[in-house]
Amino acid sequence: MARIADIELSSPLVAAPLAGYSDLAYRLFCRRYGAGLVFSEMISCHGLVRRQRATLDLCRSTDAERPVAMQLFGAEPEAMGEAAAILSGLGCDIIDINMGCPVRKVVKKGAGAALMRDPLLAARIIRAVVKNSSRPVTVKIRSGWSHQEKNAVEIARMAEAEGCAAVTVHGRTASDGFRGRADHGDIAAVRQAVRKIPVIANGDVIAPEDIKKMQEETGCDLVMIGRGALGNPWIFSGRPRPTGRAALMRAALELLELMEEISPTGIGRCRNMVSRFARGFPGASRLRQEIFAAPDLASLKKLLT
Ligand SMILES: Cc1cc2nc3c(=O)[nH]c(=O)nc-3n(C[C@H](O)[C@H](O)[C@H](O)COP(=O)(O)O)c2cc1C
Repeated sequence: MARIADIELSSPLVAAPLAGYSDLAYRLFCRRYGAGLVFSEMISCHGLVRRQRATLDLCRSTDAERPVAMQLFGAEPEAMGEAAAILSGLGCDIIDINMGCPVRKVVKKGAGAALMRDPLLAARIIRAVVKNSSRPVTVKIRSGWSHQEKNAVEIARMAEAEGCAAVTVHGRTASDGFRGRADHGDIAAVRQAVRKIPVIANGDVIAPEDIKKMQEETGCDLVMIGRGALGNPWIFSGRPRPTGRAALMRAALELLELMEEISPTGIGRCRNMVSRFARGFPGASRLRQEIFAAPDLASLKKLLT
């Protein structure tokens, strides 16, 4: 059985943190379809320390989604430590540290992937979070900052030595953004280098055969799936995506109803989420147009039924 520290996971397939997607409703949906662990989107340590309402909203959880990892981002050890203490009190199973986000406004402040360029600061942050957390701490990294500065192995070894319970590697560099393909060799190198903790492999898994390939080529313990699960939660059970419109629309409606019940949100986000299911069958492109033209939730639901 897959595990991280003392947490047993029902499956080695993990739902990735996706800002703008991974709210409580989406995480519950992924768990229903078989994800062994779900990640929140990245949460600002400063927002948490200031107890900002929108940030606290991102931390909402229920027992039904557990085990859940809440992900923190920031660049100051003290604020990250304080945020970890607050998160521990709110109830989550794992606290993850974001060291892979390449978005300008995040790296400009020294957070996300920028921490891979400053291993000493990264170590101080991990130390502060581990010290202040009552839960296992994990870290999510990329292959490195750029192809000239690939240091995932060094950062992962450091994370293990500082007490992290697992490390996720997205096999691209920050300067790659989302271009090219995730490099399985970079992930395998980390798996070889850290012996005591699980490695979660991430990048470009969209079909059941990609899961197998990722496991075989990297030797990873767990596989994290992000974009490939949008409109395809079946990936978490290792099953192929249904091809028929009816099954796809049933799942889309199930997600929409969860969103409505658990974390009501704007119509734009609802349209985006359900449009992901309108692919791969005759008439799908027409249906997508109708989805994006739906003025409200009621009309959106009608389109799906
Ligand atoms: C829209 C979007 C939002 C993301 N948000 C986060 C985030 O909040 N934290 C994080 O660590 N990674 C984030 N990522 C990166 C994903 O977790 C993942 O590492 C990346 O998409 C590669 O995996 P995939 O090919 O399975 O999608 C985001 C990616 C996308 C596309």
